[in-house]
Amino acid sequence: MPIPSPALFEGFARVWTPVALSRQLRATAPLALELAGVGLVLFRDAAGAPRALFDRCPHRGVALSLGKVHEGCIQCPFHGWRFDGAGQATHVPWNPDAKLAQLSATAVPTRERGGLIWVYTAPGRDGEGEPAVPEELLRPGVHLCGEAIEWKCHWTRAMENMLDWPHLPFVHAGTIGRGMLRRPDSRMDIDIEPRPWGAHSTIRIDGEPGQGALDLRWPNAMVLHAPFGGRTMAMMVACVPIGPRRTRMLLLTGRDFLRARAVDWVFRAMNRRIAGEDRAVVESSDPPQIPLAAEERSVRTDALTLMFRKRFYAELAPPDQRSLPLAEGSPEQGDRTGRP
Ligand code: FES
Ligand SMILES: [Fe+2]
Repeated sequence: MPIPSPALFEGFARVWTPVALSRQLRATAPLALELAGVGLVLFRDAAGAPRALFDRCPHRGVALSLGKVHEGCIQCPFHGWRFDGAGQATHVPWNPDAKLAQLSATAVPTRERGGLIWVYTAPGRDGEGEPAVPEELLRPGVHLCGEAIEWKCHWTRAMENMLDWPHLPFVHAGTIGRGMLRRPDSRMDIDIEPRPWGAHSTIRIDGEPGQGALDLRWPNAMVLHAPFGGRTMAMMVACVPIGPRRTRMLLLTGRDFLRARAVDWVFRAMNRRIAGEDRAVVESSDPPQIPLAAEERSVRTDALTLMFRKRFYAELAPPDQRSLPLAEGSPEQGDRTGRP
């Protein structure tokens, strides 16, 4: 079986992350996905539950995702070995005497919650805890619709963009940031409340509470609570790492009004338009991965993105990127710990 290397899921190890929309994983076809440099094959077991294995057959290393799903197991395209959702070999053609227990593939923990397939980024049968799924997506009566797109950037740049309040009137002047910049000398204050799953944030503009709220769902998702004609709509965006310059963006909207599927296209089109406004700007970021805070200039309204940046360097960045001295910096420049 593949030997788990310490660099597996480098920069994104030991976290729960959404990887796909539930509707992307069909009952009888495997789904190949790359997650933080690791190839995975997803499929549904006999009970319909999602399962994920490393997309590499332990026999001769070919991609299991080229095979088929057979009675809830994945069958390798090369010699037909079959593996269940735990990676256990269940059938080895021509070899009725094979010691199946020694021929396993590698599984990663997988769940299906809130219209999303979640994976834990470490091999094994169980992840640590359970994915922290936003409650808005699980509420009865909430209709979910989503889609997956890809950006050519590092996931950390996409994620900081999602947490960035002050960009709204510039990048989204015609949509969610319309009318936000009232005067050239307007002041924005960002109020951040830590939560077990990340942080909840709201803004004040010239002392007046702004509309909506934005949650950081550690490590790689944002939930925007947007007022919508008196009802509240939740829009979740997960920035799923594929490779150094590729991020899968899962855009999911939960709403408790206009619940007919027939109007999903309106919400999809809105999500695509808003994400499209960000895309070229975010993809132009240099360097591709967010640097340490001291390497870019920051101001007070960068507090939420700097909170994310500090935690990324403390918990996820590869160890050789974490060893710089923790000097206190000025509030206008940030410091190496990411403090604003
Ligand atoms: S390579 Fe998969 S069964 Fe031989
Ligand atoms: Fe944006």
